[in-house]
Amino acid sequence: MNPIWQQLQTKANAMRQQKIADLLIQNPQHVAQYSLQVGDLYLDYSKNFIDQEVMTNLLLLAETVDLKSAIHRLLSGESVNITENRPALHTALRRDLNKPLKLNDQNVMHNIGVQFDKMATMVAKLHAHQWFGATGLAITDVVNIGIGGSDLGPLMAVEALKHYQTSTLRIHFASNIDPNVISDLLKNLNPATTLFIISSKSFSTPETLTNATVAKNWLQEHLEQSIANHLLAVTASPAKAQAFGVIEDHILSFEPWVGGRYSIWSTIGLPLALSIGMENFATFLKGANVMDEHFANADFANNMPVILALMGVWYINFWQASTVAILPYINSLQYLPDYLQQLDMESNGKQVNIHAEKVLHGTGPIVWGQVGTNGQHAFYQLLHQGTHLIPVDFIAAVNSNSELREQHQQLLANCFAQAQALMQGTTSTKFAHEHMPGNKPSNMLLLKKMTPFALGQLLALYEHKVFVQGIIWQINSFDQPGVELGKKLADRLYQIMKSQKIDMQLDPSTQALLKKCDELTN
Ligand code: F6P
Repeated sequence: MNPIWQQLQTKANAMRQQKIADLLIQNPQHVAQYSLQVGDLYLDYSKNFIDQEVMTNLLLLAETVDLKSAIHRLLSGESVNITENRPALHTALRRDLNKPLKLNDQNVMHNIGVQFDKMATMVAKLHAHQWFGATGLAITDVVNIGIGGSDLGPLMAVEALKHYQTSTLRIHFASNIDPNVISDLLKNLNPATTLFIISSKSFSTPETLTNATVAKNWLQEHLEQSIANHLLAVTASPAKAQAFGVIEDHILSFEPWVGGRYSIWSTIGLPLALSIGMENFATFLKGANVMDEHFANADFANNMPVILALMGVWYINFWQASTVAILPYINSLQYLPDYLQQLDMESNGKQVNIHAEKVLHGTGPIVWGQVGTNGQHAFYQLLHQGTHLIPVDFIAAVNSNSELREQHQQLLANCFAQAQALMQGTTSTKFAHEHMPGNKPSNMLLLKKMTPFALGQLLALYEHKVFVQGIIWQINSFDQPGVELGKKLADRLYQIMKSQKIDMQLDPSTQALLKKCDELTN
C-alpha cells in the first residue's frame, strides 16, 4: 500500500476515540483553519475528524496522483474520458465566450456562442408570446421530454430558481417511460398552445423517444395544420432529431464532449433559460465559471472542490463510510439529491481503474438525501442513533427568497442545530435508548442566497469534487458502461413480451415473471 494511504489508515484508526467537538475546543484556530469562502459560497468543514496531520496527508494524496496536471488536462480539453476517447469540456460552456479555447485547431467557443444565441432567440420569442402554434395561438406550456442528464439538470434548476422566474410559460417535465406520466400530462394540456422540447444527447434513448412519439401523435391527432412549431429538439445528434420530424431551425445542438450529467450548462438548459430568462441563465453560468477559475488556480489547501473531495475520500477509504447524505435546508433544492446522485454515482460508481485493473479500495459513495426539515421527521433518527457512519453535507442559504425572515431563521436554526447535535450528541441521559453518541461528521455549505449565481457555483463545486475523487481513485469518471446491459435486456424482454413467446433461454425467475404477467393481465 502507498505509504500515505498507510499513514492515513493508521491515523484514522487512532482517531476512532477522538471527539470531534474536542478538536474544536483544543485548537482555537480549528474553525478558521477549516473553513473557506469562494464567491457567494462558504464551506465550513470543521466538524470533521481532521487535524493538521490528516489534512497534510490528504493533500499529499492529491499530490501523489498529480492532481494539478489532471485539472489542467480537464480544463484544456484533453481526452480525459479515455474509454470514449474524448474530452469532458463542460467547463467551456460557462467560460467567457471571448476567451478562445482550441480543440483540434478549432475554437470551441465559436459554436458554443452560436448555439447560445440561437437559444436566446427562441427564449425571446417565447417570452414575447411571439411563438405561435399551428392554429395561430401563442405557446403557453412547454414540456421537456428527456431522462437522466437531459431531465434532472433542468428539472432541478427550474425548481431551485423558481423565485427568479421571468416568464408566464408553464414548464413541465416528462422522463419516466411509465405511460401514466405522459398521458396524465397530456390530459391537462392544450395541443394548440403546447411546445415539446425533446432533450436527448444521443437522440436514441428509448424512454425519451417513446414519450416523444406519444406527444407527436397527440399533436397530429388534434391539430390539422403542421405541428412543426410544437416540436423542438436539443441534442448532440441533430440528424436523428431531423429524421424524427423536428425541423432544422428548431434544433439546438451541443458537442459530444458534453457528458449528459454535465449538460445543464449547454442548450439542455433551455427549460431553465425559458423559466428564468437569458440574463439570469448567463449569471448561472458565471457562478459556475467563478468556481472553475477557483478550482484551476487556488492552492489545494484552500481549494473548495479539492477539500470537499478529500473529506469524502477520508471517510470512504479510511473510515469505511459507504454513503453520503445531501441535506439541503432550501426547499427549492428538493431535486438536488437526485441530481447529485446521477452526477456522482454515474461518474464514480466504478470498479475498474484507468489501467483496466480491478480497484482494491472504495470508490464512489451512495448519494442520497432530501430537504431538511422534512428529513428530520423521517430518517434523521438513523443519522443520530443508527449504526452506520454517514457523513453529511448540509446546504443552507443565509438569506431567503421569502419575506418571512423570522421563519427563515427557524429554518437556519434547525440546520445548524442538526449539525451541532450530530457532532455533540448527549451523554446526560437516564436511559440507554436515549443516548446520542454524537461524533458524526458533517460539512456545512452556506450560500449567501439561493440565486442563479450561487446555484452555478454549487453545481460546479460538486462536479469538480467528483472529478478530484475520480483522479484519486484512478478511475474514469466520464463514461457509464454499467447502464448498458439493463438497456439491452429490457429491449430483448420487450420484444419477447410483444411476441408473446417465452424464450426458454431466459433464466427461470424471469420466465416465471413473464408467465405471471400473462396470468394477471386483464
Ligand atoms: O443511460 C444513462 C444515460 O446515458 C445518461 O448518462 C444520460 O444522461 C441519459 O442516459 C440520457 O441520455 P440522452 O441524453 O442521450 O437521452
